[in-house]
Amino acid sequence: MTNILIVGDGAIGLLLSHFLSHKNNVHVLTRKPTCNTRFYSRKNAPSHNINARFINLSDLAQQPSYDVVIFTVKAFQVQDAFSQIKPYLAANSILVVSHNGMGNIEELISQLNTQQALYFLTTSMAGFKSTQYIVQHTGEGQSVIGGCNKLAAKNPQFISPLLQAIPNLKMVNNIEQLRFEKLLVNVAINPLTALHNIKNGQLRAPAFSATIMSLLYEGCRVANAKGLNIALADALNNAYTVMALTAENYSSMQQDIANNRPTEIMAICGYISEQGKRYNIKTPANNELLAKIQAKKSVV
Ligand code: PAF
Repeated sequence: MTNILIVGDGAIGLLLSHFLSHKNNVHVLTRKPTCNTRFYSRKNAPSHNINARFINLSDLAQQPSYDVVIFTVKAFQVQDAFSQIKPYLAANSILVVSHNGMGNIEELISQLNTQQALYFLTTSMAGFKSTQYIVQHTGEGQSVIGGCNKLAAKNPQFISPLLQAIPNLKMVNNIEQLRFEKLLVNVAINPLTALHNIKNGQLRAPAFSATIMSLLYEGCRVANAKGLNIALADALNNAYTVMALTAENYSSMQQDIANNRPTEIMAICGYISEQGKRYNIKTPANNELLAKIQAKKSVV
């Protein structure tokens, strides 16, 4: 049995804990009072207890060392979460980071030892977490995982418990390209659904198509400047496919704004804007949505 720690109890953290806890020993690190009665529910199916243990930071010292630690916190929370967990990591712990948008993976790599493999997992699976500790799997989606340092890239077997348990997950060797492709899906979906308080599927209305086109045009120019080969037609196709697959879902940014939580706008439109400046590419559509979301409360 693999000992797995999931850091973060948002929708994705809870969905992963559900999938992984069938065959592994899973702990979920949460800031709230520990509670083992969380549920997972697929639409129109009965709900089940998640077979994981929910623990707080103060419990970590008494736990066995974890083989795999998965960070499902937001991009801007990864560094703090890592610093808190670091004292409890084994010399050869396997680390997985999963968040929307672009964070600072290089900074994380520089803090690992030579036996610690780091992977990035990007997913379009969708979940909805209600306040009653219930998470619903609202969109199947696809997930990919790839190595961020040499040790990880050379050892796909390190993450076989994840590959066996998480639906539609495959190992890739071009994670940077796929992360950028996913970033563009979030650029198209998250800020507009948050701003207009609508479900992902409602973005398919013609009223949004010009804005989505501009957002992705700018994003593709930035990707190309960074040496990534992403065509606008493919970025549009990816975004509209995810809108269809998660049509009934509220995006994570819509949920953040609705619940008065900080959003990931800096790691999404903020990243395109910042990289645009670096490569001298104009990004007015991304700048505008960045400003509009930042004007809302509790935004990081
Ligand atoms: O952030 C989200 O909500 C998700 O990444 C996605 C894929 C847009 C589905 O809602």
